[in-house]
This record gives sequence, C-alpha cells and structure tokens, in this order.
Amino acid sequence: MRRKIVAGNWKMNKTLPEGKQLASEVINIVADEGPADVEVIINPPFIHLAPVVQLAAGQDKVKIGAQNCSEYEAGAYTGEVSAAMLRSVGVDYVIIGHSERRQYFGETSEQLAKKINRALEQELQPIFCCGEPLEVREEGAHFDYVCTQLTESLFHLTREQLARVIIAYEPIWAIGTGQTASAQQAQEMHARIRAHLATQYGEEAANKTPILYGGSCKPSNARELFANPDVDGGLIGGASLNARDFVEIVKSFS
Ligand code: 13P
Repeated sequence: MRRKIVAGNWKMNKTLPEGKQLASEVINIVADEGPADVEVIINPPFIHLAPVVQLAAGQDKVKIGAQNCSEYEAGAYTGEVSAAMLRSVGVDYVIIGHSERRQYFGETSEQLAKKINRALEQELQPIFCCGEPLEVREEGAHFDYVCTQLTESLFHLTREQLARVIIAYEPIWAIGTGQTASAQQAQEMHARIRAHLATQYGEEAANKTPILYGGSCKPSNARELFANPDVDGGLIGGASLNARDFVEIVKSFS
C-alpha cells in the first residue's frame, strides 16, 4: 500500500506569532483526531521553520517542510536558503518547483533538477510540483507537458533516490481559483504520471511513488479526489491556513 500524505503549503502568509498559533492548532487537532496512517506535513515560510520545528518536537504525527531551497550548496548567494540550513533546523521535507516559483521567479527545469539534488544530499524529502497552465490543457497538450516536467527535473535520479521523492500534480488553472480539477481529471493525470515514471524506473518504483493533488482542494471536495486509485493525498494552499479545514482534509481518506 502506498503512503497517504496531506501537506499544507502556507505560501507567503502568516506573521511568526500567527504561524506559531496555526502550527500549534494543527499539531493539537491532529494529535486528537488525525488518522494514524496519514502523513501530515506543514510547510511554513522559512523564518517560521525553527520555532515551528520546536513546537512539533515530542510528537511524530505532524512533520515540517520548507517551501523552497537553493540550487547551490553554500556561498555568496544573497537571500538564498540552502538545503543544509533546512536540515540543520530539523526540517524533513521541501517543496520544489511550485508553479508560483516557476512563474514568478523564473525557475527552470534545470534549476529544479539541481534543487532536487541538493535536497536529497541533505536527506530532505522533495515534494516535486508539476502541472500545466490553462492554455496547455485547452490545446490538449497537458499530458506531454507534465511528463516533460518530470523527465527534465527527475529522470537523472537513481531508483533509490526516486524512492524519496513525493510528486504533487497542481494544475495551474486550479490553484487559488476555486476551480478544482474533477476527480476524473486528477485520476487520469496521476495515472499518466505513474505510467511515465514506470517507463524510466519500472512498475514497482512507480507504484510506490506518492502522487498528491493540489489546486483548490478543500474539505468539501477532498474525499472525492482522494478516493481515486492514483491520488495519494493533497498539497493544500488556502485551506491549510485554517487548522480545522486542514485537519478535515487530513481525515478525508475513505
Ligand atoms: P490552493 O489550495 O490555495 O488552490 O493552492 C494549491 C497550492 O498551490 C498548494 O501548493
């Protein structure tokens, strides 16, 4: 059976006091109500990470991730945060290649391949994001588009390295728009992603890789999305900013 994962991407939201409050609420509610078989991850902004890791100490149901890391190991890269720094504060996961990073900060597939390497060197688990813009879907080129993203940033990895990667399919037209992919659209893309992984790594490795859905996922639609055989959970933006909504999503596996 594959891992079930729900990760919250807070994006650039919450001051430090607000973020600590939200993290505490999530940790407390998950402790009381969280199903034992779901891996729960919260991804606050960089400067919240060290204090939030402290809040999460002494429990193992909620794990902490970052939203990005540098493609460089260390050195004169003003404003950047390295994978080794993340590891040193006790972070376990890092989101890489979110569409907002690609779109607004010009991150390329080649840079993302390097970020994946940096993360794996530090034993962080990358949550690698892929997903097509609306025009690409309207042209009917979405499967090829997403498979190319995977090929360009992941296919240099060994099978052992791939085993540490989590994939998140986030169609750009569904992010923050309230327009979710239908359960069928999510399932068919996830199945295609898995088939594409199998061409490079074999069926067994592909079958073990968790593939999360992201894009306007909320308590009212999570159950229908997670019920699909190739949807292994979600990467949640807006709804992860409310502890109750986020935990309702965590509880949405049938
Ligand atoms: P929303 O859930 O706000 O649509 O954001 C999804 C997302 O981008 C998570 O990384």
